[in-house]
Amino acid sequence: MDKVRIGLIGASGRAILAQHWHTPLSRETEVVAASDPSPASLDHFRSWAGKDAFTTDDYRDVIARDDVDAIAIFSPDNFHEEQTLAALEAGKHVFLEKPMAITTEGCDRILRAWRDAGTHLMIGFNMRHMPVCLKAKQLVDDGAIGELKNVWIRHFIGAGSDFYFHDWHALSANINSLLLQKASHDFDMIHWFADAYAVRVSAFGGRDYFGDDKDNKLTCVTCDERDTCPEAQSRENPRQACVFRREVNIEDNAMVIMELANGVRASYLQCHFTPEYLRNYTLIGTKGRIEMNVERNELLLIRRYGSRCWEKEPEPERIDLGEYAGSHGGADPIIAKSFLKMLTQGVEPVSHPVAGRMSVAVGCEATTSMRQGGIRIVPPLDL
Ligand SMILES: NC(=O)c1ccc[n+]([C@@H]2O[C@H](COP(=O)([O-])OP(=O)(O)OC[C@H]3O[C@@H](n4cnc5c(N)ncnc54)[C@H](O)[C@@H]3O)[C@@H](O)[C@H]2O)c1
Repeated sequence: MDKVRIGLIGASGRAILAQHWHTPLSRETEVVAASDPSPASLDHFRSWAGKDAFTTDDYRDVIARDDVDAIAIFSPDNFHEEQTLAALEAGKHVFLEKPMAITTEGCDRILRAWRDAGTHLMIGFNMRHMPVCLKAKQLVDDGAIGELKNVWIRHFIGAGSDFYFHDWHALSANINSLLLQKASHDFDMIHWFADAYAVRVSAFGGRDYFGDDKDNKLTCVTCDERDTCPEAQSRENPRQACVFRREVNIEDNAMVIMELANGVRASYLQCHFTPEYLRNYTLIGTKGRIEMNVERNELLLIRRYGSRCWEKEPEPERIDLGEYAGSHGGADPIIAKSFLKMLTQGVEPVSHPVAGRMSVAVGCEATTSMRQGGIRIVPPLDL
């Protein structure tokens, strides 16, 4: 393939990643088309892709184009399955944002279509490309903490109201739960660090802050309480629906525990009404611990020397991440390049579709456990 020509489904928000592919002069890649039901999103798309780029409100028009080699899907989660199936069936390569779909069965349908199409498919697991996570993975694989046994993740989502409760994210029909929409990254990281998939999962969670009795049509702009409401959005923000509206039906805090096929145990805690935004990862092995502050790109290695820690507290070693640049802690330029390498050189991406399916499967089972109770078995891959 001389030049990779890419068409987008969903043209704003996360579609910002596609700007890394828009280098028409390099002759390597170019974004040539986009579909989006929102005229404002298409206007924004044309502002960087050029006024001659093809635009439409119907995603099928982009898939049908002969001048499009690959489709990148940045639409809301509930459209991922239908749009990916259509793209694969048309013989296109696909970059699909996480979560792969909002059901495990939906992911399995995508995997079957991918196998039948013989084209490339990659999932937008940008955390696998973050320098802080790559370095931690290297330390684990090199045995720096001995044998990995526990992964504990705490996710403080201080911007929870901004990103998740002011728009489509707040409805279960669109995302299933935030254990797919948000946590699919973290479940994937647990699988990646441990080199195994979860087999059993259990969760508790609920909605304790967002969603109340406000009218479903109320927006921050039209609200009388906008000057005093701590969740009010600025007029410029596209996400304006009231976070206390009646229709909100997803959980805003959850605790998940799981056991992986190789015996590693993991926990994931998520809360959307914390003061700050922070992802804290703790990896414990038989010879030490890794401590990560993902947002701040901080990585500490603490070596274990048994009960002698009473005599002298272990010194955390700050691990240098080297040079990096770009959004999402430096991950976005790397994941964008990785997609092109897969298409042009056949290099297998680290964000593999099966990993996408397994993180959704954990999210679905954790959601069922949280809503109905019990320990759930994660359905193994069976294609
Ligand atoms: N990997 C990451 O770090 C990351 C970060 C943010 C979002 N995402 C993913 O990207 C996707 C989009 O999230 P977002 O935050 O950009 O949302 P968004 O609401 O900001 O943008 C979604 C865009 O899709 C458009 N859209 C709506 N329905 C559509 C349809 N049927 N077909 C085509 N386009 C449609 C909207 O008009 C909008 O332009 C989600 O699946 C989300 O999980 C991933």
